[in-house]
Formats: sequence, C-alpha cells, structure tokens
Amino acid sequence: MSTLDRGKFNSRFGFILAAAGSAIGLGNIWRFPYTAGTHGGGAWVIMYIGFVFLIGVPVLFAELSIGNSTQTSPVTAFKKLVPNSWWPALGGLGVLTGFGILSFYSVIAGLTAMYAGFAIGGKFGGIDIAQSGEIFGQIVASPVWMIGVSFGFLLVTALVVRKGIGGGIEKAATWLMPILFVFLLILVARALTLPTAGEGLAFMFKPQLDEISFQGIVSALGQALFSLSLGMGAMITYGSYLPKEENLPASAMTIAVFDTCIAILAGLVIFPALFLVGAEPDKGPGLIFVVMGGIFDAMPASNLMAFIFYGLLSIAALTSTISLLEVIVAYLVDERGWRRERATWAVASSCFALAVPSALSLGASASLSRITEKKGFLDIVDMLCGTYFLTFGAMLICIFVGWKWGIKAAVAAIEHGGHKMPAVPVWGFLVRYVCPLAIFVLLIYGATQGANW
Ligand code: TRP
Repeated sequence: MSTLDRGKFNSRFGFILAAAGSAIGLGNIWRFPYTAGTHGGGAWVIMYIGFVFLIGVPVLFAELSIGNSTQTSPVTAFKKLVPNSWWPALGGLGVLTGFGILSFYSVIAGLTAMYAGFAIGGKFGGIDIAQSGEIFGQIVASPVWMIGVSFGFLLVTALVVRKGIGGGIEKAATWLMPILFVFLLILVARALTLPTAGEGLAFMFKPQLDEISFQGIVSALGQALFSLSLGMGAMITYGSYLPKEENLPASAMTIAVFDTCIAILAGLVIFPALFLVGAEPDKGPGLIFVVMGGIFDAMPASNLMAFIFYGLLSIAALTSTISLLEVIVAYLVDERGWRRERATWAVASSCFALAVPSALSLGASASLSRITEKKGFLDIVDMLCGTYFLTFGAMLICIFVGWKWGIKAAVAAIEHGGHKMPAVPVWGFLVRYVCPLAIFVLLIYGATQGANW
C-alpha cells in the first residue's frame, strides 16, 4: 500500500483543523440555527451545549481511541479488536450511513455554493424575503441546476480526497479553516452592530423554560452528535491517521470547543439578521436560503455580505463532505485493498447516483422551505442515515467501548503517548451508562414519533 493510499496527518495542528473541519459544517450554520429557532432559542441552546460535553465529548473520546489505537478505519479496527465477532458490522453500518449522509449533504452544499455564485452575480440587492422565496422555488424546481450543483460539489470533494491525508485533506483544511474563521468574524461583527443585535442575543441566551419540550430535548441530543460528526466512525477514521503518541484528550476537547463556538457564532450572525427584517426564526430548513436570502438587501454591501455568508457555508460544508467521503474510501483502501484513486472515484460516482433523487425531491416536495409538509427523498435519507443510523451507531460505539473493549483498554490506548486522560471514572461512567441510555431514549422517541429532528 503506498503512502498515498493510507497516509497520515503531518502535524497535530493539521489533524485538529481537519477534524474540526469535519465537525464544523452545515450542521453548525444551517441545522443549528433553524433547530434552535424551531425550539424557542435560549433553553434549547443551553441543553445543546450540555449534551455536547456530557454525551458528545465522551463519544468523541471513544471514537478517537478506537481509531488511534488500531491505526485503521472502523471495519478493520473492530476486526483487530475483537476478531470473529459481529462488531465489524458496526463499522459497515458507519460506511453505509456515511454514504447516505454524503448523498443528501452534497445537495444542500451544492446549493450554498450556487448562492455564493449568485452573490458574485449581484443577485442579492433589492430582493425581499418573498422574492427570495420565489427564486429558491425556481431553483429547486430545476433538475439541471439541482443535479449540476450536487455533481460539482461531489467532484470538488473527490479532487481533495484522492490526494490523500497529508497532501489532500490536511492541506485543504489548513487553507480553508482560516478563511472560514475570518469570514465568520466579519459576519459576527456585522451582525452585532445591527440595531437588532440585542434581540438576537436575548433569543439565543435567555432561557424560556416554558419552551422546553421532550422533542426539543431529543433534538438537542441528536444535533450534538451530528454536529461533532459522531456515530459513523468518521472520528475513528481521522484518529487512525494520527501517530499513537499524540495528545488525544487535549485534541478532543479542542475539537468540541471549536465546534460549539462556531455554532454559537453562527447563531449570533443569523438571529440579529432575522430580527432586522422582523422574520421569525422558526421557518425550518429553508431559513438560510429563503429568509437569509431576502435580508441582505437591508444591509450596506449586500452582495459582499451575501458572498461571505454563502462562501462560509460552502467552505464549512466542503471540509465535512471530505470527511464523509474519506470514511468510505478508507474502508475500501484498508479492508479491500483498493487504490485510493480508484476508491475515490468509485464512491463519489455511486454517491452521485444516490444524490440525484435527493436533488430532484426538493422541487417536488419543496421540503426545504416547508411549503408543504410532505416528506421528500432527501428528508427520508436524512432521517434514516442522519438520525437513526447515526444515533444507533453512537449507542453501539459506547456499548463497545464501555462493555466489550473496556474502559481500561481504551484509557490505556488514549494514554499511550504519555498524555494523562483526565477524569477517567467520570468518562467511564458516562460511556457505560449515561450515553447509551440517553441515546436509547432518543432512538425510541424518534421511532415512536417518526420525528426528524
Ligand atoms: N458534523 C458535520 C456538520 O455539522 C456533518 C458531518 C460530517 C457528519 N461528517 C460527519 C455527521 C460524520 C455525522 C457523521 O455539518
């Protein structure tokens, strides 16, 4: 196997940027604000942050320790740790889940890139929310555009992944993440100087206890897992490209803190902007296209701001699609002995085939703008892979580390490089009891409600 096929990260900093790049994505800037908006803001945001650290971080430790100690991707990793068992199937489920998520994620990601292109073309001056909604409706109804942008996004993702870890994924993250931070800071500065900044801040941080619902609690937990890229072995895979000597506890905390800060900053951009034009934050998944698209006109340099906003979304999405594609490519390389180049193109093109019905479904069901409540193909794949498989996977990963592999072995793997893992008993308790139980409740609730949180 050549170094291009398996490869490794060249520095811990590069790894952190790549892993944070995987975590920071549409989940932070698209899904987080609209879900927070749907569930009433403040109290939901606090629950979300609680779940990130109570459930998300322990699962993140679990995934990184599996990958780092075995130095291979999920299926092969489970085979190494427990030969002749069913556990490798959990890795297989992750590969399948990643494939599904990548297929619909590319469609939304393609749309954000297209909107960035619109801004360059000066489309955001002089349109209000109603006109923005019309434009959105026309785009999603156009098969050529929808399929085209999804194809384009997958192509760019494949062009990075085919270059391998150090020369492709790490390099891309090292370039893209700093741009992402600068873009976000510009937008935060803009939003916080809007007259409605106070209103936005209050919405995000002032807990209104009567807004808490069981569905809200469940959705906060689901969002915490999705946002940290947990449950399908993405972090197992990235952890496997890191030398065993690295400081895993510190890396995991950095990634989680990074990811949470970016979600909050994204909220700080979006809510003041919404209140500027008196828009309600509970408009669902179409929020960043329909509602935000109609808001830029109310600001000076509208097209520049729109470009920065949609550019930010595209960059965040790209570092995430890269990680999704990598999980599947790594499986083919490590387990099946494929060459990276061949695996990349094979996976990207079959994923494109699955993206086509998702891309077409938006126009048919108009689900992104919630014009109708009808579920389209995209929503179904999102629900199945992005919610059920992911949460099921996260639960089994906890059970694996907590009850099969063992906390002792996992901690030994984490501390291999001489870096002490803090609060081991707390982590053990969370991984063995709290995480699997909390996730189990989430799954049961989801199954009975058919909810797509
Ligand atoms: N975490 C990313 C986001 O917030 C999405 C993502 C990338 C993901 N890779 C993943 C989600 C793996 C679950 C599993 O947008």
